[in-house]
Amino acid sequence: MSVAKKEYKRVTVKSLVDMKKNGEKISMLTAYDYSMAKIVDDAKVDVILVGDSASNVMAGHETTLPITLDQMIYHASSVIRAIDRALVVVDLPFGSYQSDPKEALRSAIRIMKESGAHAVKLEGGAEIKESVKRILAAGIPVMGHLGLTPQSIYKFGTYTVRAKEEEEAEKLMEDAKLLEKLGCFGLVLEKIPAQLTKKVSESLTIPTIGIGGGKHADGQVLVVHDLLGMTHEFNPRFLRRYMNLYEEMGKAISNYVSDVKSQDFPNDEEQY
Ligand code: KIV
Repeated sequence: MSVAKKEYKRVTVKSLVDMKKNGEKISMLTAYDYSMAKIVDDAKVDVILVGDSASNVMAGHETTLPITLDQMIYHASSVIRAIDRALVVVDLPFGSYQSDPKEALRSAIRIMKESGAHAVKLEGGAEIKESVKRILAAGIPVMGHLGLTPQSIYKFGTYTVRAKEEEEAEKLMEDAKLLEKLGCFGLVLEKIPAQLTKKVSESLTIPTIGIGGGKHADGQVLVVHDLLGMTHEFNPRFLRRYMNLYEEMGKAISNYVSDVKSQDFPNDEEQY
């Protein structure tokens, strides 16, 4: 179904709630650096997530746990310098908000002050209620994240679909309602059954953004390196690859190598 799109010169947390009200789906993608953020913003993606997936994608770690607050601020400030339109949301990394609400607020303030970001995202529900309340009370917009929460991967043990059982689905629904009540402006739902996404999305006025949550979410998010096919070892069912940049970039780079070796590059026009 196509919906008449309103032009947003600058996307705000309010624009996202309006988009949900008007039936316009929200597009969200990750970016971690200036050059990629410029492309993503120029393509009119509504929300740019400086995800802690930078830990995997940019730094090559197996999980999102090792990335630090300083590293997230570095990525976020590079992204902020590139954007004209998108709302920029930054993940609070593992260890920067779980121990106590005051530390959570300090971490969120550092992100907002030192990077210029527009909002933060935290993983979890009732367990982090006091931290969410404190950050919101300081005037910082918060996005929630439920379902598969990668910072808890060692508790789950696997990256399989979450909330398939009734008990976990009920807890997720309660957490979603709590996050909305506290004042979160949106909610990421990662790797949960499509019917649960539908139920949650219909129960909330704030938008849900799915990743592996099916078509009923109010918006979708992907890791941009996965969408572009720059990564090639990660192949979940929910991922649609729009390019195979791993292959394309590899070909271009080996052409460069052979041109250097054969002394074709640089030629007479490519020198001073
Ligand atoms: O870090 C990230 O990229 C995320 C998305 C998977 C939602 O949190």
